[in-house]
Amino acid sequence: MRTEDHNIQEPAGTAANTQVVVTAMGPPEAMALRPAPIPRAGRGRVVVEVEAAGISYAEVQMLGRLHPFPPGFPFVPGYDLVGRVTEVGRGVIGVRPGDRVAAMPRKGAWTRFAEVPAKCLAPVPEGIDPAEAVALVTNGVTAWQMLHRLARVRASQSVLVHGASGGVGTLLTALAARHGIHVIGTASPGKHGQVRALGAHPLDYRAPDLPDRVRELAPGGLAAVFDHIGGSGLDQGWSMLAPGGVLVSFDSSVSGYSPGQWFRPHVPAMRRALVWNLKRRLGLTGGRRMSMYYVQPGAAFRSDLGAMYRLALSGDLRPPVAQRYALTEAGTAMRRLMDGGVVGKLVLIP
Ligand SMILES: NC(=O)c1ccc[n+]([C@@H]2O[C@H](COP(=O)([O-])OP(=O)(O)OC[C@H]3O[C@@H](n4cnc5c(N)ncnc54)[C@H](OP(=O)(O)O)[C@@H]3O)[C@@H](O)[C@H]2O)c1
Repeated sequence: MRTEDHNIQEPAGTAANTQVVVTAMGPPEAMALRPAPIPRAGRGRVVVEVEAAGISYAEVQMLGRLHPFPPGFPFVPGYDLVGRVTEVGRGVIGVRPGDRVAAMPRKGAWTRFAEVPAKCLAPVPEGIDPAEAVALVTNGVTAWQMLHRLARVRASQSVLVHGASGGVGTLLTALAARHGIHVIGTASPGKHGQVRALGAHPLDYRAPDLPDRVRELAPGGLAAVFDHIGGSGLDQGWSMLAPGGVLVSFDSSVSGYSPGQWFRPHVPAMRRALVWNLKRRLGLTGGRRMSMYYVQPGAAFRSDLGAMYRLALSGDLRPPVAQRYALTEAGTAMRRLMDGGVVGKLVLIP
């Protein structure tokens, strides 16, 4: 959305704000709910009354200081939101009070009123449920862009989606299956029924013979492997690629690192990307490549989110919302995500 010198408007309503605050590293139950003034929109920014905010693995990582560039304490968590603009700051055009928007500010969304940069907004159509709308923001755009912009997988090709039961994985699986792609999805065995229902062939990511099982299902190799675990498991993904295939690494959530060591888990992935892509340039990989993906706001983000909202409104895509929680239940919700057992997206409704 473009910016110019423009009007500042009084925020609508006088209700007080409430926000979840993380004051120190610790368990999710230690998060506090605090009253706060309703923010005023700064230059290039807007205030949004939040209808729904996403709960994601990013917050788990931030709490343990394992997220890339973790925020300092205290901070209000919340990677993404959907809501209605109540105030537009100086220099913002193309956005008006009353507009329904999605935003990916990366933190600050677990609140009733959030102040966010206008440049990270995307329009949200009326008629879509707020929890379903927010499930498509970070997770949906990540899934869409990895599949259609980065890997460019075609119908009838085979892919492996790790964590096909998770927030990103469910959407990636549903989008790929809808596109006629043969999806093999890993998940813990208790979730295989749900993964199958999304259109994938489920496998246990802990199975020692996983590559053999994948080769049985996709004898010609995989057009893409989507991996959020990283570490040495990337070698397994690389070994299963067909000529011309791509290994997409979109996080390194491999366990074994201490709080605060947020950079170290990513080193094995970066090292492999460097070596394999160098070999590719030398023609030694049969066209196989590795890409690292990180979701960014911008024109592509708005366009891809819009495409998914159209699919959701037409009934072609069902954003998998696992459960809705009140702000007071943020700690409980995060604990549930950390304990596993969730299929799809957990959402806060302020
Ligand atoms: N790069 C980006 O821009 C970007 C954007 C969004 C998210 N992410 C990252 O994507 C990852 C997934 O996020 P999310 O919100 O979807 O998390 P989530 O809902 O917690 O899902 C995590 C998934 O990982 C699976 N899993 C656990 N251990 C595994 C293993 N060893 N091998 C394969 N799968 C395993 C889980 O399966 P079970 O529950 O069945 O055990 C679950 O389905 C996170 O690491 C997040 O940080 C990256």
